[in-house]
Amino acid sequence: MAHRVFVTRELPGDGFANLLTDAAVDVDVWPLDAPPSREAFGERVRGVDGLICLITDRVDASVLDAAGPQLRVVSAMAVGVDNIDVAECTSRGIAVGNTPGVLTETTADIAWALILAAGRRIVEAAEYVKGGEWRTWSPTQLAGVDVHGATLGVVGFGAIGQAVARRAQGFGMRVLYWNRTPKSVEAAELGAEQRSFEDVLAESDFVSINVALTDETHGLIDASALSRMKSSATLVNTARGPIVDEAALVDALRDGQIAAAGLDVTAVEPLPMDSPLLTMPNVVVLPHIGSASLATRCKMADMAVANLRAGLAGGPLPNSVVG
Ligand code: NAP
Ligand code: GLV
Repeated sequence: MAHRVFVTRELPGDGFANLLTDAAVDVDVWPLDAPPSREAFGERVRGVDGLICLITDRVDASVLDAAGPQLRVVSAMAVGVDNIDVAECTSRGIAVGNTPGVLTETTADIAWALILAAGRRIVEAAEYVKGGEWRTWSPTQLAGVDVHGATLGVVGFGAIGQAVARRAQGFGMRVLYWNRTPKSVEAAELGAEQRSFEDVLAESDFVSINVALTDETHGLIDASALSRMKSSATLVNTARGPIVDEAALVDALRDGQIAAAGLDVTAVEPLPMDSPLLTMPNVVVLPHIGSASLATRCKMADMAVANLRAGLAGGPLPNSVVG
């Protein structure tokens, strides 16, 4: 009998196209661009053997209950799995897969786009031109801060944090990092200096957040952390929104405690249109596009399908997460 699978969105790439035509797998694909509601999710997973989900889909005990005891594998098309109750899956013998590595460089590119955009006021300047405000050249018009020669602080020296640090070499930057476990070999290769969490914040001109979202990192960048940063500093978050206390960030930006922010992720996504962040010229917000190059999204989808297939076959996943 064919394995039943639910995929919460249409995916790019050959792996998914092959899955759709595979007689051994009965694939139900959520047809809309918006994620399924909780109710629809519960209905569509009923009786499936495998699930491919995105970061927009919360997979918790209630979804697993709705699916039933035959569910073998939950395959995320993402590296971050904070939307999945991995411990609950593991305790039920359900394999969980993710897609590390293939998105590292693409996401580091976006962190750098935000460093440059926020530091050099690129979005503000482009809007200035489009708004018909460009009348002359003047000495301090739209002047930002230098990126080259500045100090970059990386909070979370994992794959993406290191890729962000590597790019800083080309800008002649000093790189500081904080990581909960030692990364001395990687740091030596990148010429990065280890600091305490507090000192990374205090000494950096640009702070890039690259930790995973966990119970321990939720709210890591709170009012106290922001108060340690330089008033000229820029905060860049390409990890997960809830790592930053957004109300505290708004206050810090408004009070001039820090100078600017570049955010690919926000506490609530999509960012509500009444968010004060959207009224601040010194804030650049992107709609969680860190890994959004077509090539990378195809690789992620292929990996998600490979994890799914391995899980359906009862074997180890090429990339698994254990809770
Ligand atoms: P990674 O290589 O696994 O790195 C994870 C980092 O988080 C490591 O520095 C790790 O520290 C740290 N960490 C994990 N749990 C922690 C805890 N409890 N306390 C403190 N630090 C902790 O992952 P990655 O590929 O670099 O991705 C990092 C994150 O970026 C993902 O989890 C995801 O949320 C986000 N992301 C966002 C986008 C986007 O589109 N914006 C794209 C890809 C990824 P250790 O080295 O000590 O484990
Ligand atoms: C995207 O945010 C990911 O975790 O892959």
